Amino acid sequence: MNILAIETSCDETSVSVISNGVDVKSLVISSQIHIHAKFCGVVPDLASRAHVEKINPVIAESLSNAKINFNDFSKKIDAVAFSVGPGLAGALLVGSVAAKSLASVYKKPLIPVNHLEGHLYSCFIENKFLKPPFLALIISGGHTELVVVEDFGKYKVLGGTRDDAVGEAFDKAARMLGLSYPGGPIIDQRASKGDPLSIKFPHPYLRDSWDFSFSGIKTSLLNYLKSNPVKNEQHLNNICSSFRMAIAETLIFKTFKAVREFNLKKIVLGGGVSSNSLIRHMFLENDKKDKIKVFIPSPIYCTDNAAMIGCAAYLKQKKCGLSYNYNSLQLKPSPSLILSNW
Ligand code: KG4
Ligand code: ZN
Repeated sequence: MNILAIETSCDETSVSVISNGVDVKSLVISSQIHIHAKFCGVVPDLASRAHVEKINPVIAESLSNAKINFNDFSKKIDAVAFSVGPGLAGALLVGSVAAKSLASVYKKPLIPVNHLEGHLYSCFIENKFLKPPFLALIISGGHTELVVVEDFGKYKVLGGTRDDAVGEAFDKAARMLGLSYPGGPIIDQRASKGDPLSIKFPHPYLRDSWDFSFSGIKTSLLNYLKSNPVKNEQHLNNICSSFRMAIAETLIFKTFKAVREFNLKKIVLGGGVSSNSLIRHMFLENDKKDKIKVFIPSPIYCTDNAAMIGCAAYLKQKKCGLSYNYNSLQLKPSPSLILSNW
């Protein structure tokens, strides 16, 4: 089954053609980082306008890369999928309108996908034999979710963030340090040249809950900088390194505690922060120690991308079937959508 999938929930316009949920025929990601960088964060109106500008060229490029032209669409594409939420309202609307237009013009079924499920299943693209149950950790710019996936579409959400998402904490820390947006990648690069033990940042373990909280580390960084302004490049690298270590250790502690407590054998990571080199390394190291298998997508599938939406759509239609109803309430963009069972 060939699915054309569209992702526009935040600041990436992405379209993919993916076969049977695992064989990526094409994946185009048009990033808006250059537009938002000077504001140190995503500006919703600018994001929507950039999606409007890019959506048609990105669809055309993705089809062309998959060697499909618009005349072949009916023959070669079996369904259209799109991110229905959570995300920015205007941004989601652009993707949903494009998906509905293609589906109704070419008379194809339409599959709405929860963006979080895109991240949650992104590992399946490269691990087609992976099966639930597993523990998923979704770490992105907007989310930090620990979820027991009992079966496809059957979730028990253990915890989320009480304040900043983990990617947001990296982005805000970078801003305090005068580094560019998005902060995660630049802190990661600098951290690798610094000493992770040079500064003691708090580890917000919240021992009686599966929730996370990253605003304390952020405030602690702010207080540290007030009395210890950045002296030189090495000092800056040391701060990045200690900050990254505190976050990585917090994520590791909680995730491995949960996997043992719920008697699971697999951990699956997803979301932009799972590109972090230390987080990847530490999860894979612990994997050897604990005989728990850790799955982390390649960086291209960690970030917001349409292939993961196509993969989740494929898994969903396998269980729930297909629908040609383009007016269903489920197809309305839903900026605050939460994970729910199917
Ligand atoms: O999943 P994603 O592309 O978009 C959302 O759904 O939010 O995640 C973006 C987030 C940003 O906060 C960015 O700073 C962070 O992922 N990020 C990283 C790294 N690469 C991206 N954080 C830490 N280390 C990285 N290497
Ligand atoms: Zn995302």
